[in-house]
Amino acid sequence: MNPGRLSPRPEPVAQERKPEGAAEPVPTPPSSQGFDQGYDQGVDQEGTGDTGDTGGPGTLLERYRRVRRFTESLTEGLEPEDQVVQSMEAVSPTKWHLAHTSWFWETFLLEPMLEGYEPLDPRYAFLFNSYYVQAGERHCRAQRGYISRPGVARVLEYRRHVDEAMERLLVEWEEPPAKGRRGNGTGATRTSDPEFRYLVELGLNHEQQHQELLLTDIKHVFSVNPLRPVFRRIAPGHEAGISGQSAAPDRLRWVEFEGGLEWIGHDGEGFAYDNEEPRHRQYLEPFALAHRLVTCGEFLAFMEDDGYRRPELWLSEGWATVQEREWSEPFYWEKRDGSWMLFTLSGMQAVDPAEPVCHLSYFEADAYARWAGCRLPTEAEWEVAARALPVRGNLADSGRLHPAPADGDGGLEQMYGDVWEWTRSPYSPYPGYRPAPGAVGEYNGKFMCNQFVLKGGSVATSASHLRPTYRNFFHPDACWQFTGLRLARDVS
Ligand SMILES: [Fe+2]
Repeated sequence: MNPGRLSPRPEPVAQERKPEGAAEPVPTPPSSQGFDQGYDQGVDQEGTGDTGDTGGPGTLLERYRRVRRFTESLTEGLEPEDQVVQSMEAVSPTKWHLAHTSWFWETFLLEPMLEGYEPLDPRYAFLFNSYYVQAGERHCRAQRGYISRPGVARVLEYRRHVDEAMERLLVEWEEPPAKGRRGNGTGATRTSDPEFRYLVELGLNHEQQHQELLLTDIKHVFSVNPLRPVFRRIAPGHEAGISGQSAAPDRLRWVEFEGGLEWIGHDGEGFAYDNEEPRHRQYLEPFALAHRLVTCGEFLAFMEDDGYRRPELWLSEGWATVQEREWSEPFYWEKRDGSWMLFTLSGMQAVDPAEPVCHLSYFEADAYARWAGCRLPTEAEWEVAARALPVRGNLADSGRLHPAPADGDGGLEQMYGDVWEWTRSPYSPYPGYRPAPGAVGEYNGKFMCNQFVLKGGSVATSASHLRPTYRNFFHPDACWQFTGLRLARDVS
């Protein structure tokens, strides 16, 4: 079986600096009323007890429990009212993420595989199906914020209902199959059944993707609230790059690669989404990658050089977007009393020139690279450079939830974590790609149009969710995710 990928990614929509219904800048309280600190009702970043515990080793049941618990830990400190707001079409309410991930387990594992399973409420299949046409009719995406009922408490009850059934399913499948039941004929436990195992892995990875979306979506929800609520207070030891000014980053260095005929894509060992396969060869010319991400300070130089007002730096569609949406700085940036501030999950903070620039669209990343006399990497170049490196960095496991300056430890830095790195590669099928039949095949293949590939994960991605072959993808105008760039150039 080559199951498809159920993408939790929001359906294609135009991303705007100004959310729909908020055509004017959102008024903010004056700094004397605590603007800089935001509306501090958050919990400590380290307060959940679940950071760093987002997947990893263990039985399927142990991993299921950890991933589900981590999702709910992300809602600690949120009021029920926070969890129902849909601030723009691409943003889903927190409560919807909690419910939709449960719907996934129910639809693709419990209903077909757990004998006698009864849904808590059959109407939830309509409310919490995202875009799986073959799974049945579904609620309008733009109106997820209208779903005041079921309330948060009832959605948590839905999660408990699904968890209890999933525990039964996983325990049952961990035992040797009874006579007449599905098995592999060897008496081995059915959790080794490749199809079953893949679906559970898919469910775990799907939920991890929604953990990231939950964070990026609540960030947007809080950003349009004039009180600028704090989602997580900055944990001691994590202040660098969030408040105040860090030391200047390393001068940019280049790491060169010979290129040649390279194997790209997943080799089939362990879990991967279907869009990472089949493994195939690509020829690469010699290239070089910057040793770290582009910083806010470097991006400020682009802005001060009229980067947003020079059409020669932009793709035609990007320039049209800049004009239409009146972009003149990165998403979440605001100038207050002559200084640049940016909204973070820890409230409004001063822009730190040393931290990686974040929340850039593809258009902005591409324009910056052109201004710098460079280009964006291809996805194959990034993968070749990253494949020998450990998946380590400023990821969700750290609980920091904001990009951090490079630490200058030599070699390629920040390849994993901090920000998803835009590549210049269109999101297309690899040679020989085939999505799985049925609704599960809608995960991935049907989105291979008009999007670009991003690599490396962000502050909102769990380490156990990543690998060098991972292909994230978004439309070129999207900027509410943690997205930035690393420069590349040809080597002649
Ligand atoms: Fe999803």
